[in-house]
Amino acid sequence: MPVSDAEMIQAWTEVLTLSRLKRDDVVTILTSQNTHPQTLSTALIAASSLGARVNRLDLPPVNGEKAHSRDSLAYLGITPLTGNRAAIAALKESDLVLDLMTLLFSPEQHEILKTGTKILLAVEPPEVLARMVPTPEDKARVARAAALLEQAREMHVTSPAGTDLRCPLGQYPAVQEYGFVDEPGRWDHWPSGFILTWPNEGQAQGRIVLDRGDILLPMKSYLAAPVEMTVENGYVTAIEGRLDADLLKDYMAAFDDPEAYALSHIGWGLQKRARWSTLGLYDREATIGMDARAFEGNFLWSLGPNNEVGGDRVTACHIDIPMRHCTIRLDGADVVRDGVVLDTLPMLQQEPAE
Ligand SMILES: [Fe+2]
Repeated sequence: MPVSDAEMIQAWTEVLTLSRLKRDDVVTILTSQNTHPQTLSTALIAASSLGARVNRLDLPPVNGEKAHSRDSLAYLGITPLTGNRAAIAALKESDLVLDLMTLLFSPEQHEILKTGTKILLAVEPPEVLARMVPTPEDKARVARAAALLEQAREMHVTSPAGTDLRCPLGQYPAVQEYGFVDEPGRWDHWPSGFILTWPNEGQAQGRIVLDRGDILLPMKSYLAAPVEMTVENGYVTAIEGRLDADLLKDYMAAFDDPEAYALSHIGWGLQKRARWSTLGLYDREATIGMDARAFEGNFLWSLGPNNEVGGDRVTACHIDIPMRHCTIRLDGADVVRDGVVLDTLPMLQQEPAE
C-alpha cells in the first residue's frame, strides 16, 4: 500500500529529530533522475518545518553505460560528484546531506564527511522507509553488537548447509548502521539496523555454502539451489553450483577485476521490522533490498571494496549476500545461533572457546 504524504512527513520529522537537526542548520538534499518524488517533497517539507535552510542539488546519473542494472549499487566508484568541485563544496558547507541519489563507496563521500557534514542515505520506496523509521532502541541494539564485535579477534560462521568460515578481526572498526545521523561526520542509511566489519586483509579462510532461499544482491534473487564458495586468503577462489552459480559468475566476470572476489563487509542483521520475504514482493527496480540486508539474524557478508573503512581496495563490483540459519561466533561465543540473535540473554551465550 502507498503511504500518505502526512505519514512520510512525520517519518522524516522523526528521522531528522533523531539526527539532531537544529533551526538554521543547512540541509542539502542530493537528488538524481531516480529519486522518488514523494521522498523528496516530504523531506523538503519536514526539514523546512524544523527550521532548516534547505537546498536541493540535482545531479545527472553516471555509469549507466557500464552498469548491468539500474540498481544504484550495481556499479561503484565514479559518482556524479567525481571532479565536481562546486557540488562537493556545497555538500561540505552543509550540516546535513540527505542523499536520495546514492553516494555510497565513493571517495567524495569520505571527503565530505571529514568536514563534519552528516550524510543520511534514503533511497528505498516510501512505504519501506515508513515501516522502518529508526528508533533510539535500534541504535542501542546495534551499539551492543558493536561492542561485542570491536573486542573480537575472530568471527567463525557455520551453517547446516556446510558453511565453515573463519575471519580474523581487528584490522578494521565495527561499523554501526541504525538509520540516523546523530554525530558530526556520521554516515548512515535509513532503513537499516545491522552491524558490520571487514575481515583482516587476506586472512579469511574456509567455505561458504549458500542455501536455498539465501539472497544475492544486486540480483535481488532467492537461490533455488545451494552455491558453494571456497575462501582462501581473503578471496573467493571458486564458485560452484547450478544456475545461480553460473549467473553470479557471469555477472562478476563482466567487471574483469580480481578485487571483485575479495571478502568485503561481514556482520549480522538486527532489524525486527525487516523481513526476509519482502524482497519477493517487489519489482527488482523498485528497491535496493534493505529488508534483505537488515532482517534479524541474517549473516550479511559481501564481496568487493574496503574503502568504506579506509582500505585501498576500490572495485566497481559489489555483491551483498544475506544468509539464513547461520551460527556466528565471536572468539568462540555464539552471538547468532541458527539465524537467531542472542543479544537478549548475554549471560547464556558464553560457551568455551574452541
Ligand atoms: Fe554491501
